[in-house]
Amino acid sequence: MEHIIWDRGTLRLLDQRALPDSLAVVEARTAAEAAAAIRDMVVRGAPAIGIAAAYGVALAARGSQAGDVAGLLSDLEAAEALLKSSRPTAVNLAWAVDRMLSSARRGAAAGASVPELRLRLEAEAVALHREDVAACRAIGKNGLALVPERARILTHCNAGALATGGYGTALGIVRAAHEAGRLTRVYADETRPYLQGARLTAWELQRDGIPVAVLCDNTAGTLLARGEVDLIVVGADRIAANGDTANKVGTYPLAVLAKHHQVPFVVAAPTSTFDLKTPDRRGIPIEERPGDEVALVGGRRVVPEGVPVLHPAFDVTPAALITAIVTERGVLSPVTAVTVGGHLREPRP
Ligand code: MRU
Repeated sequence: MEHIIWDRGTLRLLDQRALPDSLAVVEARTAAEAAAAIRDMVVRGAPAIGIAAAYGVALAARGSQAGDVAGLLSDLEAAEALLKSSRPTAVNLAWAVDRMLSSARRGAAAGASVPELRLRLEAEAVALHREDVAACRAIGKNGLALVPERARILTHCNAGALATGGYGTALGIVRAAHEAGRLTRVYADETRPYLQGARLTAWELQRDGIPVAVLCDNTAGTLLARGEVDLIVVGADRIAANGDTANKVGTYPLAVLAKHHQVPFVVAAPTSTFDLKTPDRRGIPIEERPGDEVALVGGRRVVPEGVPVLHPAFDVTPAALITAIVTERGVLSPVTAVTVGGHLREPRP
């Protein structure tokens, strides 16, 4: 199912907040509306918000009243700031916006007119979207090498079709394993507080007929101790130059558990998730989300009024706890600054 649709100047997004109850759609016709959809979690997941932001830049170009190219570029820069500030941790967002702005500047330098630049940016966003789906399929194929027969795979949050252009990163490996007849079952952490695992991972795997069971986040240790998990696969929001990986809060404790139980801990992400400008975990910005996302469950307050709530939305798993990172280019293991640099320098397949 398409969940990000570009329809001649309108960006249609499946409203992930409404899943699994209903299939609602939110439309964005301006960069500000695209930024709001990202900030409010209508669309979420690192590659998916990058794609939505790229369309946001295309919307800004469409809506610009500028009479000349310099004016258009200045409107795009305003949209850039708005879109980049909508969510801070997932680097795919800034990567996608930078790619769009570079394309606009290259076009302008080559003498393109305002209408030509608008068309160019729409085409660039569509290309970026398609490339992400292709990257996910390649991640699935590459990750298969790490999946044993009859695998029981545990995952956290939603790194699936909904979090990407389609097919998924962590769930791309799950899908490839299922297609290869190598998957017994997926265990999906419910992923408090936003419940991406319970609501989204379970929904999309069930739709595809892939066996999935949901567990409370604090049950993962029990399953690992029982020897019922063969592999943990998660997505990523930002991978620093040394391989330290930011992902949904709760990922780091899983990596510690995996180490203790000697279960491989694998990160699946496109190369657009790497941030070589950030040397290690200390430079990764961690989004703090509103405390009410924790304090309210199904609209009902479960924390006494006045008690503070901590809600960092992401944590960082040190590279040393990661068995391998799977990208569209291949499998990167062991994970160190040297292997990350080498992997990204390799020519594209
Ligand atoms: O807050 P979210 O739902 O945007 O967080 C998403 C995650 O942490 C995903 O695991 C990550 O973006 C990888 S998506 C392929």
